[in-house]
Amino acid sequence: MVLCVLPAVGRFFLLIFLIVATVKQFNAEKDFYELLGVEKTADSREIRKAFKKLAITTHPDKNPDDPLAQQKFLDLKQAYEILKDQETRKQYDLHGENGIKDGFKSSKEYQNWNFYKNHFGIYDDDPEIITLSASDFEQNVKNSMEYWFIKFYSPMCSHCHVMSPNWRQLALELNAVIKVAAVNCEEDWVLCRKEGISSYPSLVLYPNKDKYYGERTPEDMQNFVLHKLSSQATEISNYNILKDTLEDEIIRSSPLLFIFCKDSDDTNCPSWQSRSKLSYIFDGLVAVAYVDCSSKDISCSKTGFQSATVYLPSGNSTLQAGIEIHSLNYLEIATQILGQLPEAELVDEESLENIRAKLNEDLGQDWLIYFTESQDSSRFTDLQYRRLPALLPHIKLGHINCNMSEELCKEKHYITKYPTFATFKRGGAVEMHVGGVSVSEVVNFARNSIWAPNLETLNPSSFPSCLKDGHPWVVDFYAPWCPPCMRLIPEFRRASSLVGGIVKFGSLDCSVYRDLCASYDVRSYPTIIFYNYSTPHAYTGQFVSRDIATFVEDVLRPPVVDLTIDNFESLVLNRPVTEIWLVDFFASWCGPCIQLAPQWRSLARMLGPLTNINVGSVDCVTQELLCTQHNIRSYPTIRMYVMGGRSGEIITYNGFQRDAYSLRSWLVNSLPSSVYALGDYNFADLVLRSSTPWVVDYYAPLCGPCQVFAVEFELAAKQLDDGRRLKFAKVNCDSFPNVCRNAGVQSYPTVRYYPGKTGWAHQSPFGIPFVNDRRKVEDLVEWLEELLVSHSPSASDNKVASSRDEL
Ligand SMILES: *[C@@H]1O[C@H](CO)[C@@H](O)[C@H](O)[C@H]1NC(C)=O
Ligand SMILES: *[C@@H]1O[C@H](CO)[C@@H](O)[C@H](O)[C@H]1NC(C)=O
Ligand SMILES: *[C@@H]1O[C@H](CO)[C@@H](O)[C@H](O)[C@H]1NC(C)=O
Repeated sequence: MVLCVLPAVGRFFLLIFLIVATVKQFNAEKDFYELLGVEKTADSREIRKAFKKLAITTHPDKNPDDPLAQQKFLDLKQAYEILKDQETRKQYDLHGENGIKDGFKSSKEYQNWNFYKNHFGIYDDDPEIITLSASDFEQNVKNSMEYWFIKFYSPMCSHCHVMSPNWRQLALELNAVIKVAAVNCEEDWVLCRKEGISSYPSLVLYPNKDKYYGERTPEDMQNFVLHKLSSQATEISNYNILKDTLEDEIIRSSPLLFIFCKDSDDTNCPSWQSRSKLSYIFDGLVAVAYVDCSSKDISCSKTGFQSATVYLPSGNSTLQAGIEIHSLNYLEIATQILGQLPEAELVDEESLENIRAKLNEDLGQDWLIYFTESQDSSRFTDLQYRRLPALLPHIKLGHINCNMSEELCKEKHYITKYPTFATFKRGGAVEMHVGGVSVSEVVNFARNSIWAPNLETLNPSSFPSCLKDGHPWVVDFYAPWCPPCMRLIPEFRRASSLVGGIVKFGSLDCSVYRDLCASYDVRSYPTIIFYNYSTPHAYTGQFVSRDIATFVEDVLRPPVVDLTIDNFESLVLNRPVTEIWLVDFFASWCGPCIQLAPQWRSLARMLGPLTNINVGSVDCVTQELLCTQHNIRSYPTIRMYVMGGRSGEIITYNGFQRDAYSLRSWLVNSLPSSVYALGDYNFADLVLRSSTPWVVDYYAPLCGPCQVFAVEFELAAKQLDDGRRLKFAKVNCDSFPNVCRNAGVQSYPTVRYYPGKTGWAHQSPFGIPFVNDRRKVEDLVEWLEELLVSHSPSASDNKVASSRDEL
């Protein structure tokens, strides 16, 4: 019995094993991108379209005879689900399939064939409609400078299907005016819930989130949008105004478009919708004027036009010189007008070399260059870029036809998408634009890019070789489809201008150069690494420009001294009697230590002006012995080695808050005060009758801002020679109201400066007021330094005065 069963079970297992093995092999050798037949750089529409196409042909419903059909389909579905989600795609790109194994479970369930055929990615074949998903919604809509009209729908809702042709029609009619998009809430229900969608279809106009409740006809929806854009053609209803408009030198510096209509019902001239779209498209470039010939103050016959559209390039001052456009369609009119505008300068290998040679020497103007593939530049999509010169008057515009300069585009500049825009900046940096290519997006990019001359886009020919060019480099490893990466781009650019100097900033697209990023140990996007010459320092803070810039500056000039077993004794224990050390004993793996690190650096920076206070840190992982010797039992341990050298006290911080300001207050409160407490009995004698300069802080003990300010005041006292050049005092106005009343104090804290008496008379108790709302130590010190120079008393027993006399 037993002997009989075993072989059967064995065969069964063998069979299972074979199937598993083939499936495994299938998975192992197939890259998800290859499986779907898309490029590594594919966007979500391309991925969805590719999946839909394969899903329809390989669906098990359509392949009942193939025993592997189901597994193949599930593999396909898994590839799609992983690549469509920015998080899992990131993991997959970085670590391959192993990176997502644990976190991601693709369900074994799938929809029937009909679903994939009819309900899935239904707008992907309409170029005018953009399908948005959770991974690109924010980047496209929230960061956009354009209007987006979005249909949130569910494939299960019949109204949604019924209105689909109208939505397509609307998208065509608003083409090149605003963006028309769709979100499938069945696929992206989290996004829809976040956007507050409670019924299908919901039609919402962004950025203001105006909901549309009217009839869902193309006309009504279009009118709704146009009223919101509120860009109307200028209406001219008087012959003199018409003449003035033509002659007005200021207006004539830009081209004019005149639309003559017999009356408001004239169907032989462009409709108000077309006029309004034209004035929106040409805002700031071509002035659009509408002439209503039915108005009694105008006689259109005098102009020779009744129902006509006339374009006047700048410089022509009579209507007869204008170009008549025989079309009622706004897009055709716009195309003809754009065709009249000058083309961008065509750039090839040789001219680009000349341009770059000049830029390398910091000469000439910055350039914006766009790379295209097509020969035909008369399409609207290309023509619209002729608006750029007017919008970017200080930047030269160039065009590279990659069909003619293939090597230049592909080998030298690694162009993979068309059109691509890049700035060629003074100083020599080249920055490629990442993101949308609408005119407003390109303009925004160019304007910001040229203000960041230290930032450039890296590629395999410049990275990693640039790291050896003698400059420190900050590199942003990113992927264009990752929303945090896109949010970082402007911050990173701003950080590059904040840091400036010799530090260079570069960004490397890891979706294209995957292996290169992997070999530099990049584990997530975005990753910022600062190569301080050859040593890499990974950035762990928030992705905001100021923090990034501070991080770079801290690495370049570390404010915190690295303490080790070799220098601890000489620097800290045997410190001079006037010096203080603040030491952070940390372990690199401890969370609170990691949080403390930037605060510790900022504390060190704040204390920078106090030359007798030093800030250091000990890494207890590498300095285990040192930490054991000093009895460090928990991390982080913060200690203060106060004045007095070897015999000085050691105080351990046991406060709860570990931010720089709390730590600074702790320091100040632990040290002997440098501020005299004065009252009725000594104020007049010590301050008003003295020839020494004094600065006085009038406060009330229970006032919060007074307590905050007291720390700043104390630090200013310590910073300004600890009371030798001038003296610091405080007066408690609750205890000594007379002193405060005499000084005319009306609010707390109030600060007054007394330069010292000259001659026999007392000084006025009013003094010189400190009027600065910021009330920070640096403001106070700056104010006092100025006063010490401008109000030096003449009394000869004053040290300041005598030392200045010697000079
Ligand atoms: C209109 O102005 C353009 C550019 O200044 C010029 O080339 C053209 O000849 C002018 N047309 C007429 C009819 O004056
Ligand atoms: C590139 O140029 C050739 C001829 O010069 C043309 O046949 C081809 O269509 C062009 N390619 C594109 C994408 O325009
Ligand atoms: C970075 O490099 C500079 C110059 O070589 C050096 O002074 C500084 O200490 C380095 N920073 C760190 C954190 O090593």
